Amino acid sequence: MSTNGKLLDVQHVTVAFHIGGLLGGAKLLAVNDISFALDSDRPEIFTLAGESGSGKTTLSRLLLHDLDPTSGKVIFEGRDVATIKGRRDVMAFMKQVQPVFQNPFETFSPLRRVEEYLIDTATHFGRAKNRRAAAAVVDEALRQVGLSLEEVSKRYPHELSGGQIQRVSVARALIPQPRLILADEPVSMVDASLRMAIVNVFKRLRDEQRVSVIYITHDLATAYYISDRIAIMLRGYIVESGPVEAVLDRPLHPYTQLLQESVPKPAPEDQESWAKHIELGTLEAKEYTRVGCKYAGRCPHVMDICRQADPPDFFVDGRAVKCYLYADGPESGPQLIDRSTQGAAPAAQPQDLGKS
Ligand SMILES: Nc1ncnc2c1ncn2[C@@H]1O[C@H](COP(=O)(O)OP(=O)(O)OP(=O)(O)O)[C@@H](O)[C@H]1O
Ligand SMILES: [Mg+2]
Repeated sequence: MSTNGKLLDVQHVTVAFHIGGLLGGAKLLAVNDISFALDSDRPEIFTLAGESGSGKTTLSRLLLHDLDPTSGKVIFEGRDVATIKGRRDVMAFMKQVQPVFQNPFETFSPLRRVEEYLIDTATHFGRAKNRRAAAAVVDEALRQVGLSLEEVSKRYPHELSGGQIQRVSVARALIPQPRLILADEPVSMVDASLRMAIVNVFKRLRDEQRVSVIYITHDLATAYYISDRIAIMLRGYIVESGPVEAVLDRPLHPYTQLLQESVPKPAPEDQESWAKHIELGTLEAKEYTRVGCKYAGRCPHVMDICRQADPPDFFVDGRAVKCYLYADGPESGPQLIDRSTQGAAPAAQPQDLGKS
């Protein structure tokens, strides 16, 4: 099976949901013609960022084979994920692609010691033949996140701090030795001061274990610090994507510019994520079903054409941007401010793993 050098190849995927309420009978494209690929030989951290209801979790469900696309394909290591059927194939796929979820307390049963769960994971995925051998595998995974089996031994989930239990859930995802980790808002329930310690684990996995990570987040500060590339999602579309410095230091799409400006500048411990600053509600379904650019109703630069047809991707300054302002190249857009020279890039401080 040819992989074309790609670990993951997402080809024009779309997911349609039928919605009720005022817009009853309408179709909502929670994922709308999205394409991107991850290289097989060059592990990276690829971030999907966007406000609540932009389609991030729906896209991640496609990548985890938890949902089939309405159209388009997800190809993992050369194989169309929709064709993975049967216990053996599903297990083989799950070994390669592991999730980390937002709420670690949902991953672990409150009634079981966390080590039991980790040991079961090791035997279940064939990493160890018996419990004694599994203990060594579990300890190795915990050490990769700055913990050890001794530290979590005999503990129930509630006896660990929020930062520790989320690191244990990253360790759980590492046990099957995946090539790709899909982390959906892994730090949004973790204290702001501990977030960097956890996302730093992803950086180390990329560099030392050659694991690729798809990092889904509201938090542009951590995204800026750890990502190689970032894709900004709005109402089912990727509206801008490219190297993280280009996209966040010199945002081109008016929506990315809004997000960038909404990143609070004061001390990180006071930070609320920008997602909370944006009023949503009924706007969501309206924007999803709007003809043309989904951002037209909020965009300060809106033009007639934006309300007539979906903008295509324009390739400008090393990234793809879905905005008619760039139909004639970079000069045609609103005046750009290079935020990297203004000290306004999201502040992110690396932290010591040992601190949580
Ligand atoms: N099973 C479903 N049936 C109908 N609509 C759905 C379903 N799942 C998601 N949606 C809708 O699809 C859109 C995208 O939802 P999704 O959960 O993917 O967004 P998100 O970016 O992950 O949001 P959040 O940041 O709040 O987690 C939303 O409008 C949501 O209401
Ligand atoms: Mg979500």
